[in-house]
Amino acid sequence: MNDKIKILEDKISTAQLGGGQTRIDKQHQKGKLTARERIHFLLDNGSFEEIGALVTHRSRDFGMDKQVIYGDGVVTGYGTINGRLVYVFAQDFTVFGGSLSETHAEKIVKIMDMAMKNGAPLIGLNDSGGARIQEGVKSLGGYADIFYRNVLASGVVPQISAIMGPCAGGAVYSPAMTDFTIMVENTSYMFVTGPNVVKTVTNESVTAEELGGASAHSTKSGVTHLTAANDLDCIEKIKKLLSYMPQNCEDTPAKLPFEIGEEVRMQLDDIIPESANQPYDMREVIEGIMDENSFLEIHEYYAENIVVGFARLAGRSIGIVANQPISLAGVLDVDSSKKAARFVRFCDCFNIPLLVLVDVPGFLPGTDQEWNGIIVNGAKLLFAFSEATVPRVTLITRKAYGGAYDVMNSKHIGADMNYAWPSAEIAVMGAKGASEIIFKKEISAADDPEAKLKEKEAEYAEKFANPYSATERGFVDEVILPHNTRRKLIKAFSMLENKVDHLPKKKHGNIPL
Ligand code: HXC
Repeated sequence: MNDKIKILEDKISTAQLGGGQTRIDKQHQKGKLTARERIHFLLDNGSFEEIGALVTHRSRDFGMDKQVIYGDGVVTGYGTINGRLVYVFAQDFTVFGGSLSETHAEKIVKIMDMAMKNGAPLIGLNDSGGARIQEGVKSLGGYADIFYRNVLASGVVPQISAIMGPCAGGAVYSPAMTDFTIMVENTSYMFVTGPNVVKTVTNESVTAEELGGASAHSTKSGVTHLTAANDLDCIEKIKKLLSYMPQNCEDTPAKLPFEIGEEVRMQLDDIIPESANQPYDMREVIEGIMDENSFLEIHEYYAENIVVGFARLAGRSIGIVANQPISLAGVLDVDSSKKAARFVRFCDCFNIPLLVLVDVPGFLPGTDQEWNGIIVNGAKLLFAFSEATVPRVTLITRKAYGGAYDVMNSKHIGADMNYAWPSAEIAVMGAKGASEIIFKKEISAADDPEAKLKEKEAEYAEKFANPYSATERGFVDEVILPHNTRRKLIKAFSMLENKVDHLPKKKHGNIPL
């Protein structure tokens, strides 16, 4: 028996070494941790149980029969993060560059199936040269097996992808179909075709970092939701992100203990500027309302005219969607509509209530927006809100103009509670624009057209630049004082905690993608 135990121990220690010390050193020199180190820091101490440590590839071509390495370039298994079960795979770049073979894919597929059956989040740590070139179509099939499960698991369990090295070619489509992507700055990149192909096809010269690094995808494409300074920072961000989510679609996010006190936040009274054209940072409103230091912003540098993220209110996990007046006056455009729609759908999948903060002058005009489909993209956000059955609360802080009033979680599309501050202006458009149209004749016939416009503007503003006509009709439930907002919202979300709402029976809706 001792001999047999020794054989097993030898196999396990060989598997632990992956591609060998030289390749591990190379990984460290690049500023990257190894797959096993990443798992070690991600999971609770001693909680990791590996599955498939002794799996080997079945490739016999190109001398691969002589290069058999246990684990085949990916470490897979389960463990806990702050006591919660998660399934994890970490690609091991020290073994064939973390490239994906048939068996490498089978290992990932196995834990994806387990995550779905057992209702626990799936975390993928990607660091791979892509399809195992020696395996041809078997590798491509393996990718497709993973893609298919990403789709099946979507909305069943949360899926988080960390990009901690190369992720290129079709391989990018697995992270793209998960709920959140986090990229490590300077050591990771994602693109469908790399710089060499780009140069050949379009004659553009671009580096891998410029084309698909964390900076490009966090600011230009929106492919990544978060970026991290290094591997450890990335791992901490995964843990934080996960803390706002439930285990699966039938679970609710964990609530931290909380006892309600006065909850008055006087600083909220001073945020809205005197002039309606002056910007302010909506993050100050968020921080003023939510539990201290609880806000985790998602897509911070992409479509900055809308802010989305998770925070806690009285210990409850809440998804926030908020127009941002300091960027493009908080207008809705193509990118902000897409960004917010995706976030709303995530929260709705996983029973995370939504708080919507509104200060929106409308949709961004222009050929660029129209030709890039502001119609169909704005419709995504309208569709996403309308479809969401989680508790939905809206607060109008200032402008709620035009179609954007309807879209931003209005009562008419199913919001549960709608509040407004006294500074709210709910109208078809701003007072100046409205007066120029409806009083055009009167203004041009006046001796002093400018003075007439001012007079008409004031008349219009008095009638509509306030929250009261909407409140009189019940479109707004209550006009509240800013300093009481936190208390009102705590009570509203508590009241809505057991909300049950069902959409009409259907196979699935047809969101304008
Ligand atoms: C097999 C691979 C590999 C691959 C890397 N390796 N990629 N082996 N299949 N796809 C091996 C290398 O041969 C090398 O082995 C080791 O991994 C480390 O690679 P290096 O090149 O030394 O590392 P580095 O200099 O850091 O460069 C990393 C890299 C480069 C940029 C990722 O390896 C690279 O360009 N690889 C090929 C990328 C690629 O074209 N993949 C296919 C994409 S198409 P030794 O033994 O020398 O250490 C694709 C389609 C997916 O993925 C479709 C899904 C639908």
